[in-house]
Amino acid sequence: MVSTDAAPRQGSEVREYQNLIGGKWVPAQSGRTFQSLNPADTEEVVGVFPRSGREDVIAAVDAAKSAFASWSRTPAPGRADIILRAATLLESRKEEVARLMTREMGKVLEEARGDVQEGIDMGKYMAGEGRRFFGETVPSELRDKFAMAIRQPFGVVGLITPWNFPIAIPTWKTFPALLAGNTIVFKPAEDTPACAAALVEILMEAGLPDGVLNLVAGYGEEAGQPLVDDERVRMISFTGSAVVGREVAARAGRGLKKVSLELGGKNPIIVMNDADLELALEGALWGAFGTSGQRCTAASRLIVQRGVLDEFTKELVARTRKLRVGNGLDPDVDMGPVINAEQLEKIHSYTQIGQHEGADLLIGGKILDGREYSRGYFYSPTIFANAGYRMRIAQEEIFGPTTVILPVDDYDEAVQVANSVEFGLSSAIYTRDVNRAFHAIHDLEAGITYVNAPTIGAEIQLPFGGIKGTGNGHREAGTSAIREFTEIKSVYIDYSGRLQRAQIDTE
Ligand code: UN1
Repeated sequence: MVSTDAAPRQGSEVREYQNLIGGKWVPAQSGRTFQSLNPADTEEVVGVFPRSGREDVIAAVDAAKSAFASWSRTPAPGRADIILRAATLLESRKEEVARLMTREMGKVLEEARGDVQEGIDMGKYMAGEGRRFFGETVPSELRDKFAMAIRQPFGVVGLITPWNFPIAIPTWKTFPALLAGNTIVFKPAEDTPACAAALVEILMEAGLPDGVLNLVAGYGEEAGQPLVDDERVRMISFTGSAVVGREVAARAGRGLKKVSLELGGKNPIIVMNDADLELALEGALWGAFGTSGQRCTAASRLIVQRGVLDEFTKELVARTRKLRVGNGLDPDVDMGPVINAEQLEKIHSYTQIGQHEGADLLIGGKILDGREYSRGYFYSPTIFANAGYRMRIAQEEIFGPTTVILPVDDYDEAVQVANSVEFGLSSAIYTRDVNRAFHAIHDLEAGITYVNAPTIGAEIQLPFGGIKGTGNGHREAGTSAIREFTEIKSVYIDYSGRLQRAQIDTE
């Protein structure tokens, strides 16, 4: 949650952050600021940040451009050493950064630790890549001629990250971009700039040269858009909403930039009659309400075969009733707040839409307003049943603790319902039938399929991303990470000492 141009509410205790441009910490040129507030207690100001504009972005791109020649010539193993040091520093500060994350973003501390751990994992994985960074060698059709393809950085890349994984997702982007030799302008979500600053500070402490990574805090229209529009930025990596993603792609397309998009999801868990029901219930509860449902991968649809529908529904509601909602720093709390007032309103409006559409609201559907909730954005875990798969609550991404139970007769109907949405990020099936599981792997339209596990929980060593409206065909992390942030150059070296014409002088 942010409010603009306001003085910090807690006076001198509140840290004033700055942008990092060319190795110097500087305010926005306009002098404007905004606040990052704790969504569990909005009286707590987590920090005050520069409200950057076009002029700050231009300065950051200038700095990134100047730093490129030297950084791109630094051997990849040397670049990797810095990333490894950053991962180690992040590991040593895991608790501190996780606590900052819970205060700034709201997810419960255990999950915040997981988010930081995902960043540490990414750092260790990418550091190993410094001594691989594979290209290709292939035979030439000609004698005494060598053929290979090598990877090269783009130059300056622009990274725009969301608030829901405020450390993990920035590491998915910064670490491989740096490893590949790019220099960066990083515009984090306006809801979580303190987490972004913590990561940038760690990278600088790890030895990143000035100008290689530049941090510009602020709003999408004011700081993100000039970054996307700047013609010197050759590649944009964006994770966020589908609406903004389309805008980013259209703008970047005019400049013929490479754009990597990671957008929404409406991820199904299919529960077949032969499922281990206990496992499916645990998975559904975690998948739907973990991170207050604020994951692109959240299990926002539960597609349940009729043979287990009643038992599954009854048990899920009973377990949901036991979830404790509150401040994520409290170890007894299962689910934290949602990120801001706008999201709270949006989530609640979908409850009204669902009721209006005629689905049964089984539990939740309320903005929590008791004493412990009065200063934050808390929503009760919400389950709809008897929903039609074409209803808006079953089609559109809500990005909150709302899930919808959709009954089906058989596997074919389950797949048809699962694939009926515009998105295709994550998917899951609970079944004991191995043949069925393999069919589902083939049939589900998604970038990720889990068998007997919920839709959340991707590990960084596999590519992450989706199909259809989830993106534009890119994948992050895993073996895709380097591909995302590099151009390929094909190289032919003729050591015959004479002109050899390809396709002609082949003997
Ligand atoms: C996201 O919600 O944007 O698989 C990322 C998961 C996490 C990453 C989620 N590892 O749920």
